[in-house]
Amino acid sequence: MNKKNSVFIATSLDGFIADENGGIDWLNSIPNPENNDMGYVEFINGIDALVMGRTTFETVLGFDVDWPYSKPVFVLSNKLKKIPESHKDKAYLIKGSLTEVLAKIHEKGYEKLYIDGGTTISSFLKEDLIDEMILTTIPILLGGGSSLFGELPNKLNFELAGSKTFLNQITQNHYKRKK
Ligand SMILES: NC(=O)c1ccc[n+]([C@@H]2O[C@H](COP(=O)([O-])OP(=O)(O)OC[C@H]3O[C@@H](n4cnc5c(N)ncnc54)[C@H](OP(=O)(O)O)[C@@H]3O)[C@@H](O)[C@H]2O)c1
Repeated sequence: MNKKNSVFIATSLDGFIADENGGIDWLNSIPNPENNDMGYVEFINGIDALVMGRTTFETVLGFDVDWPYSKPVFVLSNKLKKIPESHKDKAYLIKGSLTEVLAKIHEKGYEKLYIDGGTTISSFLKEDLIDEMILTTIPILLGGGSSLFGELPNKLNFELAGSKTFLNQITQNHYKRKK
């Protein structure tokens, strides 16, 4: 089976992915003079498409940079009526239950999916739909903000598949779902 749902995300020490104002500039709080990508390019090369929540989509749209993804991006939203014209061949609105959403994406031939956005990742975890998580920890306590993890109906076991340290400050753990 080639289908896989992966998370690749950075959190604070206290498990937040954005601060109380939705800010993510603390992600760059450790000097990175040589722009070490911490495995991101290798990871993104291994996926077929992204599934992201509307908030993360709008955050990326707000960055003053070119669209950063070369793979199709499926945006989960009930509120958004359409993808802005500027991005209509890059991002696609998708809705429904996660089972329906995944079936629609798989039908198009995309099997290895990068799941992004706090609420989105939580909703996938609630339905035990995440196969692996690559979690990068920035050594900062934010004290509040958007949590990566929320309540779950059941405990989920993961096993550590690898662990790396970057810039002598940042740890990255690769967890695989243990069933
Ligand atoms: N630290 C990092 O590496 C990292 C990575 C990614 C994002 N971020 C930050 O984290 C924050 C993410 O925000 P967030 O937690 O609100 O999460 P999000 O998952 O990006 O967006 C949540 C929205 O996605 C839509 N959504 C999610 N699941 C859905 C479903 N099953 N069906 C339909 N729509 C669904 C809903 O949109 P509607 O309200 O439109 O229905 C929901 O309000 C942002 O500030 C972002 O910048 C940080």
